[in-house]
Amino acid sequence: MTDIRTSAGTRTAAPRVLVTRRLAPGVVERLAAACEATVHDAEQPMPRPELLAAAAGRTALITTLDDAVDAELLDAAGPALRLVANHAVGTHNIDHAACAARGVAVSHTPGVLTEATADMAWALLLAAARRVGEGERLLRSGRPWAWAPTFMLGMELGGTPLGILGMGRIGRAVARRAAAFGMPVAYHNRRRLPADQEAGAELLPLDELLATSRVLVVTAPLNDATRHLVDARRLAQLPSGAVLVSMTAGVVDEAALAGALDSGHLFAAAVDNFEHEPAVHPALLAQERAVLVPHLGSATVRTRQAMGDLAVDNVLAVLAGGEPVTRFSPPPTSAPPS
Ligand code: GLV
Repeated sequence: MTDIRTSAGTRTAAPRVLVTRRLAPGVVERLAAACEATVHDAEQPMPRPELLAAAAGRTALITTLDDAVDAELLDAAGPALRLVANHAVGTHNIDHAACAARGVAVSHTPGVLTEATADMAWALLLAAARRVGEGERLLRSGRPWAWAPTFMLGMELGGTPLGILGMGRIGRAVARRAAAFGMPVAYHNRRRLPADQEAGAELLPLDELLATSRVLVVTAPLNDATRHLVDARRLAQLPSGAVLVSMTAGVVDEAALAGALDSGHLFAAAVDNFEHEPAVHPALLAQERAVLVPHLGSATVRTRQAMGDLAVDNVLAVLAGGEPVTRFSPPPTSAPPS
C-alpha cells in the first residue's frame, strides 16, 4: 500500500480517501492535492481484509468492479463515508440499497469509455466472425496448414442484420459503426430511444430481436433484471449460425453460451468480461469458436485516463460540498425487459 498525503493532512483533519487500485498517471496526485489519499498501488484487487481495514474513517472510496461494496464494507468505512466513486460505468459490485440506507452517494464513469468499448465490441465481432483467434492459435501451434478455397471460412458481416440488446451509450456507439458495414440495426431496450438517437435502428420485442439477429451484441448493464437474461432458451431463439458478442458480464449465461457453441447452433461468440472474474467458465475456454479477452472493453490509454479523472472529479465535487458529477441513478424499474 502506498500512502500519498497532502501537506495539509499533517495539520488539519483533511478528508481521507481510499483508492483501491493503481490508476492512470497523475490521477491520484490531483486527488491528493485536496485530501489525504491512500492508494492500493497495484494491479491486483485489494484482499478483502485489507480493504475492510483501509476503508475505516474514509470520506470517499474510489472502487473498481472487483470491490464488493456491501453493508460490511460500508460499516467498516463508518459514518464519515459520503461517496463511493466507482471507476467503471457498471455498478453491479455495489449494493445500492445499503448505500442509500447510509446516505452514501454512488458515482460511476459513464460517457468517457463509450467509444473505446464500442471499438472493442467491433474488434471482437470481426474476430469471431472471421475466426481470427482460431487462425492465430493454429499458426502458433505449428500444425500444418495450406490456403484452400474451403479453408477456415468465416461469416461476412456486410449487410447482415445486427441486433443490439441494451441501447445505452455503448449500444448506440456500436450501432453507429454498423453503418460502415451496411448492416441494418434493430435493438431491444427498456424504453424506446428518441428518434434522433435511434438513427434508423428499429426497436423490437426481445423475442423478435433474437429471432432476426444473425449478429447479436449484448451491451445491457448487469442488474437484477438482466442477470442471465440471455439463457439457453433465448440463445436457441437466435438464427442458426448466428454470432454473439457479450460486452457485459452476467447478462449472457456463460455455460449456456458454451452449450450453444458446442452444439453448432452458434457460428461463433466473443466475450469481453466474465461473471466470476478472473475465472472464465471452463466450458467456454474449451470452445475453439469463442474469442475471449480479459475485460479489455475500456482498456485504452486515453479512456483509462479519462475514467480516473472522472472518478476523481466526482470525489472532488463531493469534498467541496457538492453533488457528484456523474451520480449513478438506478434504473426506474426492476422488471426484466420483454
Ligand atoms: C465495465 O468494464 C465497466 O466499466 O462497467
